[in-house]
Amino acid sequence: MDKFGFDNPYTPSQAHAPTPQLHNELLGDCMNILARETVAEMLPLHSGSTIIDVACGTGAGTAALVAQIKDATNLSIKGVEWNEEMLATYAQKAKDNSWPAEAIHQDVQKLSIADDTFSHAIGTAVLSALPRDAVPALREVYRTLKPGGVAVFNSWAHVPNMEPIRTASRLTRPQGSPLPRDKMKKWEDHNFLRRIFKQSGFEDNRIAILKREIVVTTTGVDRYAGLLWSFLGGSSTAGWLAADGEKWEEAVAIVKEELVKSDGYRELEGGKMQLKFVANVIVARK
Ligand SMILES: C[S@@+](CC[C@H](N)C(=O)[O-])C[C@H]1O[C@@H](n2cnc3c(N)ncnc32)[C@H](O)[C@@H]1O
Repeated sequence: MDKFGFDNPYTPSQAHAPTPQLHNELLGDCMNILARETVAEMLPLHSGSTIIDVACGTGAGTAALVAQIKDATNLSIKGVEWNEEMLATYAQKAKDNSWPAEAIHQDVQKLSIADDTFSHAIGTAVLSALPRDAVPALREVYRTLKPGGVAVFNSWAHVPNMEPIRTASRLTRPQGSPLPRDKMKKWEDHNFLRRIFKQSGFEDNRIAILKREIVVTTTGVDRYAGLLWSFLGGSSTAGWLAADGEKWEEAVAIVKEELVKSDGYRELEGGKMQLKFVANVIVARK
């Protein structure tokens, strides 16, 4: 079974296997800019601030925060993550860059941290990765924030790369073939976001949802289109179709054409390109 849960053994020979290196190439500086735009909403920080980086991964949120603070020595950051490998990278980065941060191996849905501990919580690129629409984790965030404490989280309000995949699928496959589903769609919706924060304890009038443009520099459009089709082309409920190998070039050309048409697309010197994403930044106060 593949990572999308499909039992279809066929993959076109042209498809790139999804390695972490290729994912990083596709993402470019996207996750770092997203983190930077999100933590900007909790600045300025007073000396002595205590911060939890929720599902910190390898530390994009902590890095973005520390980079925007003149003197971070009076901060105390706890990066919480359940993936040991990622947490080890976080701990190493904390050491190498003298972050005032401690790496904690825990499920963020069951924190062994006292009530009213933190002045701030960061959660970048995590909401859609957390079980049960993130509500159990956000309840823990609410519980461990001090009264008046601020949580900043994000989700995508618009990504320029899903419609090209759906268009290529529609135009190269038999009519009625299932389309790759945009599983992130609900995370665009402000009402949905407000609801999960309210279910987690935050009061409606203490929740603000902002939009921020994230202009991403990534690999050249030809390569990007090939990688994107490789990673998402087979992600409908039908998986890859037998004819997808023969239609490979046609599909990748459509993905490219649609990307080039997307709002904010720019070709850069040196064979790279820019794409425009839009993020929701949620700022919730206890
Ligand atoms: C897309 S990554 C984002 C990581 C990081 N915040 C960043 O911006 O690079 C989502 C992270 O959530 C972590 N995660 C998901 N569920 C978790 C849980 N219940 N407890 C702790 N970490 C969790 C994953 O292991 C992964 O590192």
